[in-house]
Amino acid sequence: MANVVVVGAQWGDEGKGKLVDWLSERADVIARFQGGHNAGHTLVIGGQVYKLNALPSGVVRGGKLSVIGNGVVLDPWHLVNEIAKIREQGVEISPETLMIAENTPLILPFHGELDRAREEAASKGTKIGTTGRGIGPAYEDKVGRRCVRVADLADEATLIARVDRALQHHDPLRKGLGIEPIDRTALIEKLKEIAPQILPFAAPVWKVLTEKRKAGKRILFEGAQGALLDIDFGTYPFVTSSNVIAGQAATGVGLGPNAVDYVLGIVKAYTTRVGEGPFPTELDDETGNRLGTRGHEFGTVTGRKRRCGWFDAALVRQTAATSGMKGIALTKLDVLDGFETLKICTGYELDGEVVDYLPTAAEAQARCTPVYEELEGWSESTEGARSWAELPAAAIKYVRRIEELIDCPVALLSTSPERDDTILVTDPFAD
Ligand code: IMP
Repeated sequence: MANVVVVGAQWGDEGKGKLVDWLSERADVIARFQGGHNAGHTLVIGGQVYKLNALPSGVVRGGKLSVIGNGVVLDPWHLVNEIAKIREQGVEISPETLMIAENTPLILPFHGELDRAREEAASKGTKIGTTGRGIGPAYEDKVGRRCVRVADLADEATLIARVDRALQHHDPLRKGLGIEPIDRTALIEKLKEIAPQILPFAAPVWKVLTEKRKAGKRILFEGAQGALLDIDFGTYPFVTSSNVIAGQAATGVGLGPNAVDYVLGIVKAYTTRVGEGPFPTELDDETGNRLGTRGHEFGTVTGRKRRCGWFDAALVRQTAATSGMKGIALTKLDVLDGFETLKICTGYELDGEVVDYLPTAAEAQARCTPVYEELEGWSESTEGARSWAELPAAAIKYVRRIEELIDCPVALLSTSPERDDTILVTDPFAD
């Protein structure tokens, strides 16, 4: 019985939400394993739009178990609001359908404040362009062994001790940034107030999932962000603060690496990025604007305009390798409809030589210029296509060339935000 990991193969916003939703029909459990409410997953089901940040996309499907794993950082106030909004849309959420790992670190209000204060104080070139939601500072506290975790909410004395430990670190830091000290009493009260709304969902997720696996249930691991934002393998330091690549799926819920059978990379047919950092194929011109307008490229979390550019096969070849992708789901091909010619980046020219991957050193990255291959475009619409036969020959050629260059086959092709506009080549769960 295959378990599938879905990861973004670029800088996020590849359209994971739709694919996760599509695949979730074949799964019993849907688990988030990293990131937090910096993610924005939009699902369109029968014309109804659901916007999720922290909740796994599986919650909108009845009869599935959704899991928030220990690899996630969780803002309890945001979660409670998100649950309320989704319930208003008629979705049922209960401790039977949603579980949160007891060892999940919490994002507290001062994490967001610190995140934003640092960004404001950053000089040109050092700003990350974060979502401002406290993700980085919360992960710092996790590895610094001073965070409050979900299980700590159950006991007042433990909770106070954890808060005090965090404050010991944060108050001097805030002083240096000119921010007033944390109101300890108010924070403890706030946490005590939210605790009864979070604790019913708390569970030993590693144990529940182990039992589910023994019972032959299928798990869909839902990644957030994209592999180029990975803390180790992304365009550091312009990355998010978690491991985004597929290897994190097992650690982020408490299972061994053999729990993962198939890694599906979600790949947009061109490239986008929000926030700062290198982007070799970025188009700061009319073509870039056209991609952004046709693709509705605005951040779901911050509303920021996404930077757009040609498809970078060198980078996706790299993420396909670091995540061990067995297949990809290609999305938003229709955004390329009507272009006379299209370009794909196959590598970079660096000091007169061609390299087939993006070097790690920032200074070398800055000296890289993309090497492009030009392909013929197509004038027909590919939107809503449900079989290969409905695609123009030039579009098929473009897809096939991507497969060759990234060394990974297309398993699914998504041709609109609607779940049924999907062409299935290989079923990841059956592979
Ligand atoms: P943080 O995750 O808020 O710390 O932001 C770090 C970087 O990751 C910034 O460039 C963000 O724009 C980017 N980022 C975080 N989450 C997402 C996402 O879900 N999609 C795309 N970019 C993201």
